[in-house]
Amino acid sequence: MPRGPGRFLRAPVAPAAALAAALLSSLARCSLLESGDPVASALSPYFGTKTRYEDVNPGLLPNPEAPWRDPELLEGTCTPVQLVAVIRHGTRYPTAKQIRKLRQLHELLQARGPWGGRASATSGRDVGAVLADRPLWYADWMDGQLVEKGRQDMRQLALRLASLFPTLFCRENFGRLRLVTSSKHRCVDSGVAFLQGLWQHYNPGLTPPDVADMECGPPRINDKLMRFFDNCKKFLTEVERNATALYHVEAFKTGPEMQDILKKVAATLQVPINDLNADLIQVAFFTCSFDLAIKGIKSPWCDVFDIDDAKIPERERQSRQGL
Ligand SMILES: *[C@@H]1O[C@H](CO)[C@@H](O)[C@H](O)[C@H]1NC(C)=O
Repeated sequence: MPRGPGRFLRAPVAPAAALAAALLSSLARCSLLESGDPVASALSPYFGTKTRYEDVNPGLLPNPEAPWRDPELLEGTCTPVQLVAVIRHGTRYPTAKQIRKLRQLHELLQARGPWGGRASATSGRDVGAVLADRPLWYADWMDGQLVEKGRQDMRQLALRLASLFPTLFCRENFGRLRLVTSSKHRCVDSGVAFLQGLWQHYNPGLTPPDVADMECGPPRINDKLMRFFDNCKKFLTEVERNATALYHVEAFKTGPEMQDILKKVAATLQVPINDLNADLIQVAFFTCSFDLAIKGIKSPWCDVFDIDDAKIPERERQSRQGL
């Protein structure tokens, strides 16, 4: 497990949703430690960009506002003059597309035939029955928006940065802070929450004003920078809209590893394998991470997968990003 400076920041693994706070200078790296949190899943290390801050840095559980300082960093011999941080948005709801797929999966479970083995539901072993009976609490309006926990993620991140670099984050410097964000609502909202957290740090007990009225101004939207992948012609023509380039992603989704996991999940959920596909498996897996990150619960969706299965969506993401 890598350990290093910036453990309090998460590496922006997917480019899809970044928010940059241009401030001081620090490299973000990802590390996962054993978590003492009882609801954390054994699958948590495989949640990628959907990993909770608490699972990357378990020190946050007892004290989410206390900074963690690498002993080798800033030993008192150097003075930080600038910080540039690339920050991923806070915890969010699934997208409408993910929610639609989850609903499809839920309907599939509810439509299971009599061979679905409902009798064993009382013993707690029929995961499919547990999931079919569990109301789907995700709704279309949620569509990838930042959740309240996500606002808190950002406020607490701001407080940790301010405690870690007190000279940079002094009151007088607040006007020099520049936040650049993508136009995605969850990223803009994350920037706002970050600034509000910081403002409250300077003005304890007061209600923050509108970010437009803060000395540093509101987060500035710059999609050309923050969603560069949507604006890069070469990437769009040579990769994103190029079936040949995407061949490996498709090959993986229909390959033997995916077939194995489809077989396993079909048996666990007692649904026909032909009704399942790689996208549905992925959304089921993500629901385990969403339920944990948003609701703080250990989802029954986590019981569908073991650690070997968890590595599969991870590899799919890697094959996609490795392009
Ligand atoms: C599409 O991808 C393939 C494989 O990476 C590459 O050889 C080809 O040049 C790409 N096509 C375009 C139009 O860029």
